[in-house]
Amino acid sequence: MPFQIITGDITRLEVDAIVNAANTSLLGGGGVDGAIHRAAGPKLLEECRTLHGCEVGQAKATGGYNLPARYVIHTVGPIWRGGGSGEEELLTSAYRNSLMLAAEKECESVAFPMISAGVYGYPFDKALRVATDTIRAFLQDHEMQVYLVIFSRSSFRFDDDIYSDLSRYVRANLEEDEPRSSFLGNIAKSIAFGGTSGKRDSIFSSGRGAMKKEARASEAMREEPLEESADEDILCDEEKPRKETPEFAGAAMAQASMLAAPMQNMSLAQALENLDESFSQALLRMIDERGMKDSECYKKANIDRKLFSKIRGDVHYRPSKQTVLAFAVALELSLEETESFLKKAGYALSHASKSDVIVEYFINNGNYDLYTINEALYAFDQSLLGA
Ligand code: APR
Repeated sequence: MPFQIITGDITRLEVDAIVNAANTSLLGGGGVDGAIHRAAGPKLLEECRTLHGCEVGQAKATGGYNLPARYVIHTVGPIWRGGGSGEEELLTSAYRNSLMLAAEKECESVAFPMISAGVYGYPFDKALRVATDTIRAFLQDHEMQVYLVIFSRSSFRFDDDIYSDLSRYVRANLEEDEPRSSFLGNIAKSIAFGGTSGKRDSIFSSGRGAMKKEARASEAMREEPLEESADEDILCDEEKPRKETPEFAGAAMAQASMLAAPMQNMSLAQALENLDESFSQALLRMIDERGMKDSECYKKANIDRKLFSKIRGDVHYRPSKQTVLAFAVALELSLEETESFLKKAGYALSHASKSDVIVEYFINNGNYDLYTINEALYAFDQSLLGA
């Protein structure tokens, strides 16, 4: 999941770089600045002294020292003065320059606090919008795992109008207890289709002052352990027409022969015509039908490129429910289309699931902005869409 909103203490994150919400002196302070200096140790301040400060909106990097992160990227957000003094542009620059510096340092993962949303008084929901818009724009042209770290979930605020309308919708539609039959039905389905193992690897180092790790942050959630894609050939090749790609034809033939067995008297061509389309086949078909590029779709769905390549190359791929819904949003499917898409992976929407009701609200309202949906899911303490 290229962009994730998580809760926790940024000083404990095992990522390549954490971003510090500093002041122009770069000589430490309170808030996250103070926490980072405390956790990194005195050598951080020594190196900061050599940087001779930092302009608002700019970014400078130092080592991470005792932190689990390899680098600290120090940036200075604007002080909120009502919104008429260029605060939005300066905050955008702080995020953008920090991301560009992380890319320059070849970081594969970076974590941000909510810059300026503390002592500097930037309204949280406005700061969140700037953060997510700037990170989304960056991820259009870059591959990086970006975390936005919320120190305390109670401080989290997103679009008030959506939040109050959505709260009413959830109250009206959430069925507290799912009838046992359909609940068991869903369990059976998910076992049958090998639902997500959902192995959650923490990206938070265990205990303070954890040994500095060179290891990259592991994903907070993975559907299936991703073996490194052995060869890049299976990566999306935008030009080649889908049907001619070897992996697609090979997989379809394999599926056909598996299913064709009971239809002894059918030719393979006829069996192919009778295949139940798999999740992966339906996804690729709908991408083509909309004239989308693969990369445009998986970026809109907050799915990382390697995972998409795995889905594309495996006609039997078993996605998590969040992945199916993320693609349903990226493809802007109607509720009915979403239901049948979920069914191909063995899932169904349920009013006993708060996250399903939330996603249903956005689809019903024609709001397919996955980042906004994820803000809402985070606000309601639900798993985010994407993988
Ligand atoms: N991990 C993650 N987030 C944190 C942590 C932490 N350990 N500590 C605080 N935060 C959050 C706050 O809850 C807030 O949402 O970081 C966000 C930014 O708050 P501040 O640290 O106050 O930063 P900012 O508003 O940008 O003000 C910067 O404060 O600490 C001084 O020296 C700093 O003068 C500078 C000013």
